[in-house]
Amino acid sequence: MGSSPAIGRSLFGEKTPLAATGTTLKFFSQWARRRESSADKSPDSAPFDPKEQENLVREEKFYEIDDLAALEARGLMKALMIHRHRRIYTQLKSLGEEYSMLHPDVLTVLYYLAKHAEGNILEIGPFLGGSTMAAAIGLRERNRLATFVTVEKGGEGIPSRRRLVTEDIVRDLKRNLLDNGHASLVQVVVGFSLDNKTAEKVRAHLQPRSVTLLIIDADGEVRSLLNLYRELLTDQCWLVIDDYFATGISTAKSGRTKPQIDTAVAAGELEELGFYGWGTWVGKWHRAGCEKRPEVLPNE
Ligand SMILES: C[S@@+](CC[C@H](N)C(=O)[O-])C[C@H]1O[C@@H](n2cnc3c(N)ncnc32)[C@H](O)[C@@H]1O
Repeated sequence: MGSSPAIGRSLFGEKTPLAATGTTLKFFSQWARRRESSADKSPDSAPFDPKEQENLVREEKFYEIDDLAALEARGLMKALMIHRHRRIYTQLKSLGEEYSMLHPDVLTVLYYLAKHAEGNILEIGPFLGGSTMAAAIGLRERNRLATFVTVEKGGEGIPSRRRLVTEDIVRDLKRNLLDNGHASLVQVVVGFSLDNKTAEKVRAHLQPRSVTLLIIDADGEVRSLLNLYRELLTDQCWLVIDDYFATGISTAKSGRTKPQIDTAVAAGELEELGFYGWGTWVGKWHRAGCEKRPEVLPNE
């Protein structure tokens, strides 16, 4: 091999030196230096362990997910598998027990996508911040930080999981972010996500076509959210939407979410990459002109 840098592909398909793909040794050593010199001593900053990181890099290479182009349906499942036995999975599981309605596998996928998705993050429906903090931990592990906006309408929260009861969602969300050292990383926008005033506040934080990860876990209105916020999304944007499958109290939501997703998948606007946890859909959004239609099997 010559001295020219190895080439990988970024999430958007352009060729990049592997150091920029986030899964190489070079990235790892840059990240390690940043972590060691970081002033952030938040409780969620897991102690830096060089052996653990070297081992992760080796596994990503072994399972062929050391290039972002490999992070498609199978790649994402592999990424989850190689994290299940790691300390981060245990950390996300206990974070979930305290703050989230989502399955630890979903929190791990959010963490992993936030770590690799290169651009900004927009979340609709953080509730007490479990999903938000999982993504924030991933974002911290990038070699380049980005803007993370979460939109919460607020009010009371009385979910079936009694441990998550709150009299004031926004107050407790902000307190949880602060207590766990993520308050400075996440911009909390308070408001109903489909209000134009809320959208204006969101746009004040995010440049057009800068969001590479959109997380939706709100009231099932996927279509309207995509219409309102599409200009903020990159041409291909990772998308995680909860409540595709009906589970427990979320039957009404999935009744709205699933048909909206299915229609968009059939049109090629959404690309389905998998289902995780208790009923979460994971995929990509494609701008008009960049659609990716589902493969039709020969017998269909
Ligand atoms: C299912 S919970 C989110 C759970 C969270 N992602 C977690 O990890 O546990 C839904 C949240 O979305 C908020 N919400 C619902 N509809 C909304 C809307 N249209 N705009 C903003 N927030 C909304 C609710 O107040 C609630 O806090």
